[in-house]
Amino acid sequence: MQPEAELEVLIRARYPIIYVVSYEEQRVEEGIRAICERRGRTLHTWSITRGIRPPVDRVAGPERPAKLDPELEVLALMKEAPEFTVFLLKDFHPFLKDHRVKRLIRDLSDDLLPRKQTLVLVSPVMELPPEIEKGVTIMNWPLMSAQEIEPLLDQVVASVGERKEVETAMEPVQKELLIKSVQGLTKLEIENVLARSLIEKRKFDLEVVSAEKKQIAAKSGLLEYYPPLNTLSDVGGLELLKEWLDTRKGSLTDKARDFGLPNPKGLLILGVQGCGKSLLAKTIASEWRLPLLRLDVGRIFGSLVGQSEQNMRRAIAIAESLAPCCLWADEIEKAFAGTSGAAGDSGTSARVFATFLTWMQEKTKPVFLVATANDISKLPPEMLRKGRFDEIFFVDLPDKDERADIFAIHLRKRKRDPKNFDLATFAEITKGYSGAEIEQIVVGALYRAFARADEPAKGKRKAKATDVTDAEIRAEIEAVVPLSRMMQEEIAWLRDWAEKRTRPSSDRKGD
Ligand SMILES: Nc1ncnc2c1ncn2[C@@H]1O[C@H](COP(=O)(O)OP(=O)(O)OP(=O)(O)O)[C@@H](O)[C@H]1O
Ligand SMILES: [Mg+2]
Repeated sequence: MQPEAELEVLIRARYPIIYVVSYEEQRVEEGIRAICERRGRTLHTWSITRGIRPPVDRVAGPERPAKLDPELEVLALMKEAPEFTVFLLKDFHPFLKDHRVKRLIRDLSDDLLPRKQTLVLVSPVMELPPEIEKGVTIMNWPLMSAQEIEPLLDQVVASVGERKEVETAMEPVQKELLIKSVQGLTKLEIENVLARSLIEKRKFDLEVVSAEKKQIAAKSGLLEYYPPLNTLSDVGGLELLKEWLDTRKGSLTDKARDFGLPNPKGLLILGVQGCGKSLLAKTIASEWRLPLLRLDVGRIFGSLVGQSEQNMRRAIAIAESLAPCCLWADEIEKAFAGTSGAAGDSGTSARVFATFLTWMQEKTKPVFLVATANDISKLPPEMLRKGRFDEIFFVDLPDKDERADIFAIHLRKRKRDPKNFDLATFAEITKGYSGAEIEQIVVGALYRAFARADEPAKGKRKAKATDVTDAEIRAEIEAVVPLSRMMQEEIAWLRDWAEKRTRPSSDRKGD
């Protein structure tokens, strides 16, 4: 149901207090105004800065003390206003913390119904004290739909008129694409981005729209936009996982939908520390040519009651507005640890987690979720249930060939030709080392070589090697103690667990 129609039903059904969550006060107000006209209601709006508009014609009410705080005043006025009145209070949420306001609202909820009056609160955040939760109906006002955006776009085109320097003519396909790309923005943001594109590019340009969306993601503080830096060639080994990704390349496009493929949901990558889970997560977006957004789960948890869930919804809405895109939730077990048990935070994280799970289950927008985790014992079991992710992959320590591959990648990354090194031996003697440790070895050896090159020459012995040597890499291998040696038991347990429940990301031919 369209939000306006939904609100109309609530008003007609005499729901006394309605809390509308929206960033778009103006659209909500327009909607309510239209409802009031259709239904013969009188609308008064209120904000702390403007007071009540228009002033209320009081039905000879009792005398009140002359001076009340404005937030109390407006509630008192409501009691005195005639029947069939709707009050729209903008950004009232900060006042809901006041005990007097709470009490007045509770009193009102009984009085409004027989008088066919409605109190509508509109605010971008949902902050409702538990004392008044019961009497209040909460409603989300979604962002503009494609059908609503089209006339807005037509308006912008009409306002440009016949100006020759601006090109607004579009093929129907282009128009559809543009509408799709601005979806997820507020009305004001859409108007701004269209205007900006016409000024900057003299036409409607999708690049401008996507730049604007990235800005919005950044501004929210909940999502971090990552430029595409890594590619699959930066990741050593993990052939099976790479193959899986390769077959699903392009699966977020409309073409794939037309072909009859479902939208892929996402991937959970579990595994041993330092074996490239985060690295791989970052590469998927650039391989698939999608924007990459990292979900900052720490930031989701706000300090105010109700805010965390709101933050989660906002993060999801922004990610969806950037769809098709990749949403990366790193170390997800840390965020949602302990959500199954009785957590100390009065269930907030459990509720945020539930919001997230529901979204994962029901999402229809092409947002590919990539989650990583290494401590599965902390991961809520609901997360692993079938249907949440398309696949759960397990990333193990690299086998011999993979280790050689990772040595080569990191040497190349530091402008050394792997052909000049004895990779076979390095791989042989680094059983149990992770990718991160191999990288550390290469860097450590480079330090050794650099320091040596700076040393004053002692005597006239053999000419010094000018670059990092095999011996230096081997010395570094011996100096690094792999984490897996200390964590043997944990890794064995993890492998055993993963064997029954996950798909291996590599076929590990030889250790
Ligand atoms: N398979 C690999 N190929 C190439 N480099 C790797 C590989 N695995 C790890 N590395 C190197 O180690 C670094 C750290 O790895 P990464 O952060 O991806 O590990 P992780 O599995 O996410 O570990 P953690 O569980 O600690 O988060 C990477 O940035 C990369 O440089
Ligand atoms: Mg990681």
